[in-house]
Amino acid sequence: MRRKLVVGNWKMNGNRQTVLELLGAIGARTARPECDVAICPPFVYLDLCERVLSATAVALGAQDLSEHANGARTGEVSATMLADLGCRYVLLGHSERRTSHGECDETVARKTLRALAVGLNPIVCVGETWDERMSGRTYDVLSRQIRVVADALTESEHFMSFTVAYEPVWAIGSGVTATATVAQQAHAFIRQCLARYSATASQRVRILYGGSMKPDNAPELLAMPDIDGGLIGGASLDAQQFLSILDAAA
Ligand code: G3P
Repeated sequence: MRRKLVVGNWKMNGNRQTVLELLGAIGARTARPECDVAICPPFVYLDLCERVLSATAVALGAQDLSEHANGARTGEVSATMLADLGCRYVLLGHSERRTSHGECDETVARKTLRALAVGLNPIVCVGETWDERMSGRTYDVLSRQIRVVADALTESEHFMSFTVAYEPVWAIGSGVTATATVAQQAHAFIRQCLARYSATASQRVRILYGGSMKPDNAPELLAMPDIDGGLIGGASLDAQQFLSILDAAA
């Protein structure tokens, strides 16, 4: 059985005071979590978070990384730097980056290889827009997004070594969550796509759900057989809500 993973994506939120307050509230309650837990703060708070979290069971993650190793890349952050700061996970291909920064599937694949090369666990975000779902293209989109990343790893030592986050774009930040049935159907399809590469490995890959997961809907979502955890946005900025979701994942 896959151990559940719950990740808080803080996006571009917080300041030093709120970061310390949030970590204090979360850290106190996650001494021996029944699931894997991580938080992904903005880059500028990674070092502060690492110093606080190093004494807890909460892992550190980043929200992105450069597809380049180093050099004349103003404003970018390398995989090596994130590993140096104590990150264990990194979000890649979040729809907000695919939309606002023109990140294509091939860019996400290259970033996935960068992450794996330094020992980070990539969480590859996939998901369809409302128009794509309404036009019956959901599975075409998910299949393509998975295929481009999985193909890039086929010849590497890191075959199938990533986590997937299914985030229907229409459910992100909207308060409109996919029903447990709809989410399970998408997760099961993603696992079928992975099984084309390796049936065994497909059972190992964790597939997280993201998109308005809250304390009231988390238990039903997390009870689904192919939902292995959550990628939490808004609710991760509220300690009690995030802890309630952790309880549901236990
Ligand atoms: O990466 C997680 C995020 O996109 C989900 O946001 O606010 O719908 O939980 P939210």
